[in-house]
Amino acid sequence: MNMNLETLIPIVGVVTEVKQDTPDIKNFRVVGRDGKKPIQHMPGQCAMVSIPGVGEAMFSITSSPTNEDYIEFEIKKCGCLTNWLHMIEAGQEITVRGPYGNAFPVDDAFAGHDLLIIAGGVGLAPVRSVINYCRHHRDRYGKIDIVYGSRSKEDLAFYDEIINEWMSPDEKDVHVHLTIDREQENWDGHVGFVPNYVKELGFDTDKIAILCGPPIMIKFTLAGLKEIGFSEQQIYTTLELKMKCGVGKCGRCNVGSKYVCKDGPVFRMDELSELPDEY
Ligand SMILES: Cc1cc2nc3c(=O)[nH]c(=O)nc-3n(C[C@H](O)[C@H](O)[C@H](O)COP(=O)(O)OP(=O)(O)OC[C@H]3O[C@@H](n4cnc5c(N)ncnc54)[C@H](O)[C@@H]3O)c2cc1C
Ligand code: FES
Repeated sequence: MNMNLETLIPIVGVVTEVKQDTPDIKNFRVVGRDGKKPIQHMPGQCAMVSIPGVGEAMFSITSSPTNEDYIEFEIKKCGCLTNWLHMIEAGQEITVRGPYGNAFPVDDAFAGHDLLIIAGGVGLAPVRSVINYCRHHRDRYGKIDIVYGSRSKEDLAFYDEIINEWMSPDEKDVHVHLTIDREQENWDGHVGFVPNYVKELGFDTDKIAILCGPPIMIKFTLAGLKEIGFSEQQIYTTLELKMKCGVGKCGRCNVGSKYVCKDGPVFRMDELSELPDEY
């Protein structure tokens, strides 16, 4: 894991752009005071973001490492720090430290394979980095299927990017399957929960599956994938437990013998099934 002075000391980040992405999610673009990208990472890795005096929490770096200019966070308003972060405007400063945790094995286990990426709500944040990394290095991967769902059309994160880039006719063998929980007027796409949609779509099992979303979605999607023939060795996920130090010292994030901050947050499903069911 990354535990050297460079990753432990918070550095000042300047928020250069804030975008209201859904009613409760904002996207923050961050550079260092020198105007350069403040942290180098791989898809799935996170950083501790803080407003000094308010709090600090872990967030996935949602931009792809192939973006050389800035990092981005996709942050859902849900408590003290995130309420304050949602009040920030372009030009204001925060602190970031990291990158922390492991990454999805994009250059190893994923390379040469078809990928099935399944996300719900703000769970698209960590896997967006995977998606854009794989799109950038398109020839290294096979077909990419993305199943993404949220409560309503307005709650779909990165909607413009999905429609204009991932679903662009120029995109080579990237297939996006969107769903929302309930019918609504301006939506003629699929309606229903992600786990059921995955089963309806009925994928071949000769691929790697990557899951990220609320625990209930993970639970039912995992069961569905196993039903159609996926093994736990083919499925990866990333966990979101409460974290404090981010570096394996405070004992806040352990599941059995593993610290999510240090041994995760990315796990292959067979590694998780060996752990107590506390996550
Ligand atoms: C590895 C990792 C990656 C993550 N990536 C992201 C990401 O990309 N985007 C993102 O948005 N989040 C992400 N998170 C989650 C984020 O770190 C937490 O949501 C963080 O705790 C928010 O801090 P806060 O101070 O705003 O909320 P907190 O005050 O810590 O509240 C967090 C949760 O507790 C609940 N809560 C708060 N106060 C109360 C109360 N009084 N009673 C009952 N419940 C309460 C809130 O509803 C909320 O669900 C990630 C977490 C981890 C560990
Ligand atoms: S957050 Fe402190 S041990 Fe993981």
